[in-house]
Amino acid sequence: MFQPAVLLLFILVTSICRCSLLVERTSNGAILNAFRLIDLPKLPEFARVKALEFRKAEIPFASLSIFDQLTECKYLVFREGTVKQIQMKNSLVSLTAEKTKTEGVIIDLGSNYKLAKLSITQCYLTRIPENLNELKELEDLNLSNNRIDFVTMDNFKGMKKLKSIDLNYNQIKHVLTVDESITLPKLEQLMLSNNQLYELDVCGWLMPSLGSAYLRSNELTYVIGLSTNNFRAIKHLDLGNNPLNCHWKEGFEKYAEDRNLFLSNHVDCDYSHEDTVPSSCKFTAAMNSKFKAWWNAIEAKSGAIVGDVSNRFSNGGGKLSIITDQLEGHIEAKVRIQIEELNRKLVMMEKKFIKQMAEQRNMIDDLVEVIYRMEIERVYNKTQNRG
Ligand SMILES: *[C@@H]1O[C@H](CO)[C@@H](O)[C@H](O)[C@H]1NC(C)=O
Ligand SMILES: *[C@@H]1O[C@H](CO)[C@@H](O)[C@H](O)[C@H]1NC(C)=O
Repeated sequence: MFQPAVLLLFILVTSICRCSLLVERTSNGAILNAFRLIDLPKLPEFARVKALEFRKAEIPFASLSIFDQLTECKYLVFREGTVKQIQMKNSLVSLTAEKTKTEGVIIDLGSNYKLAKLSITQCYLTRIPENLNELKELEDLNLSNNRIDFVTMDNFKGMKKLKSIDLNYNQIKHVLTVDESITLPKLEQLMLSNNQLYELDVCGWLMPSLGSAYLRSNELTYVIGLSTNNFRAIKHLDLGNNPLNCHWKEGFEKYAEDRNLFLSNHVDCDYSHEDTVPSSCKFTAAMNSKFKAWWNAIEAKSGAIVGDVSNRFSNGGGKLSIITDQLEGHIEAKVRIQIEELNRKLVMMEKKFIKQMAEQRNMIDDLVEVIYRMEIERVYNKTQNRG
């Protein structure tokens, strides 16, 4: 008599445990505990919920097909558990992932994202997510406590609303500005403390609203370009716990005093540095302009040669267009190779000692230039012989 009742109870309890997710309702949403893929059919229940938090979820890939069921969700949080990849949903306003072992965030091109706040912290990111600057509405970016080791400022290009970047507690060795400059008109605070920066060149950074910059606990001996007018609003700069070059530090302190810029207390420095400090942006600007001049010269050269060949073969009828097409194709290919070369150079810079960046850059430029000249000559000779 007793047994069927117990069995029934057992079935009831297990079926409840298997099918019903542990849900806590909050004032404006819900917290889902220990969500598993097996719970997916339950998601439509939360279609109307605006704020959802997944705690200790196990979702290897949080894809759009999952989110599409959460039509009204604007504020999404993942806390603990495992969510390796997250695909951005364009109607989200805020996305947080904390201690979720997240390795990547997938952002598509041209998706008209609404996201204003992105926070992926205490996770496993090694790069700034690709296409981050597609998040045109983003104001607040927090990628602290990840494993990011390399940043190019171009990642942030065109992010007109960005106010705060927190990259504290990563393993960043280099912050490069590949493009000539980067403008972040609204950026108020930039946090790069507790990384492994040993050189920083901010010459091309235009951040008129930047009030605070945190560079504490890196390996910096100096920062190039801090004393330009690109940071008109800066009031607070934390350079503590860096092996600063004393000569640089003293010079900069004078500048800071004149500008009413508050430097954090206890900024140490090291008199044993032998290396000379690039005194201003002129140094890097000169490098950049040399690079640009070289690039323009090559462009002009290619143009001139195409023009010259056109003249030479102006009586050649149909042959002319074939040859110029070939030549243009060849030059295009060369330019492509140069771009690849530049990319390779960037990777090299990432790996090698950035202090020697200037020399390396000049050297490689010269090398590429020589190779390019020879190639142009070769093509030129060939077409001449053919003619
Ligand atoms: C970024 O997130 C961490 C928590 O993971 C928090 O401690 C920190 O204050 C946040 N940064 C900003 C600028 O809000
Ligand atoms: C092109 O031709 C010139 C003379 O005709 C020669 O001196 C030069 O070495 C040639 N260049 C190449 C790359 O073959």
